[in-house]
Amino acid sequence: MLKLGNITLDVPFYQAPLSGYTDRAMRVLAHEYGAPLAYTGVILAKIALHKKAFNRLYFKPRTDEGLVGAQILGGDPETMAEAAAAFSNVGFDLIDLNFACPAPKVLRRYSGGYLLKEPETAIKIIRLVRDSVSCPVTIKLRAGFDKSQESMDKLQQICQGAVAEGVDALIIHGRSVKELYRDRADWEIVSDIKRHFPNTTIIGSGDLMNPETIVERIKTSGLDGVIIARGAIGNPWIFNETRALWEGRSKPERPDLTEQGEVYLRHYEMIAESRPMLKGVRYFRKFAVGYSKHHPERKKVQSDLIAAKTRDDLYTAVKKWYGVG
Ligand SMILES: Cc1cc2nc3c(=O)[nH]c(=O)nc-3n(C[C@H](O)[C@H](O)[C@H](O)COP(=O)(O)O)c2cc1C
Repeated sequence: MLKLGNITLDVPFYQAPLSGYTDRAMRVLAHEYGAPLAYTGVILAKIALHKKAFNRLYFKPRTDEGLVGAQILGGDPETMAEAAAAFSNVGFDLIDLNFACPAPKVLRRYSGGYLLKEPETAIKIIRLVRDSVSCPVTIKLRAGFDKSQESMDKLQQICQGAVAEGVDALIIHGRSVKELYRDRADWEIVSDIKRHFPNTTIIGSGDLMNPETIVERIKTSGLDGVIIARGAIGNPWIFNETRALWEGRSKPERPDLTEQGEVYLRHYEMIAESRPMLKGVRYFRKFAVGYSKHHPERKKVQSDLIAAKTRDDLYTAVKKWYGVG
């Protein structure tokens, strides 16, 4: 079990935010295969202040997605608070604050991972957001801006402030902002934060690519839970496999190629609901890499799926390799 304020998840893992991936389609599949909660990819807070923002389907969660957290990004406390209220009002179950994004254009705007350098602003954002919504609030951080002692001290200060403001969980990716995705995530730093704040829900992230590693991390890190990120791309089955191992059952067989092909096409069709055909096919390519990993002819499947330019091409490739469509 994992408690995030008034939300209780029946397993201590769920779908991480992945910009450009965890839109509605990926969230629906994650939910169907057993993720008890999924986050959106990061959304600019100021978008929520636009009058017509919520006319777009994209921004409204639907009931077939299960529980959904909206992750927002920004450096201005008032804007973040208004955005949090707006996302909560349209039906998101939880608000997550992004203090993690390492993209240069985000850092230049004093938001995302930059906030790890500015504890006072970060804590003010947390306070105003906490006061603006009644749903659970979580924060996604990296393990410091860089690896200096000053960064570690600021991280502690922000965690301390977050705990004092009543945040429901801290989610820590065990790499610094400067490290981007290099090297291995440092889980010791994350476990150390749990030791400092034993009564706060601390969730870890980093290099969780298969069910065995995920369950091992939950059991050995002393943390309350973990989030699954890259390991779930083109692989919604990771959730039911992890669930089985976590519950002491044996890992289910990989679904046969027919089921894989059906999931593949459903994923595409959900994406196509909100995009013109050519854009949808192009957008979908990045999932092909993940899906084709589970096929015995992985390389050939991947190159055929990536080569598809139209919906017909995609269906032809899926028919050829998975026998459906
Ligand atoms: C393509 C991609 C997009 C991501 N987008 C977000 C995001 O929008 N918000 C966020 O907090 N983290 C984001 N992350 C970070 C992940 O949530 C996660 O913390 C990180 O990938 C480490 O986990 P992993 O090594 O198991 O993938 C992203 C990561 C990747 C690879």
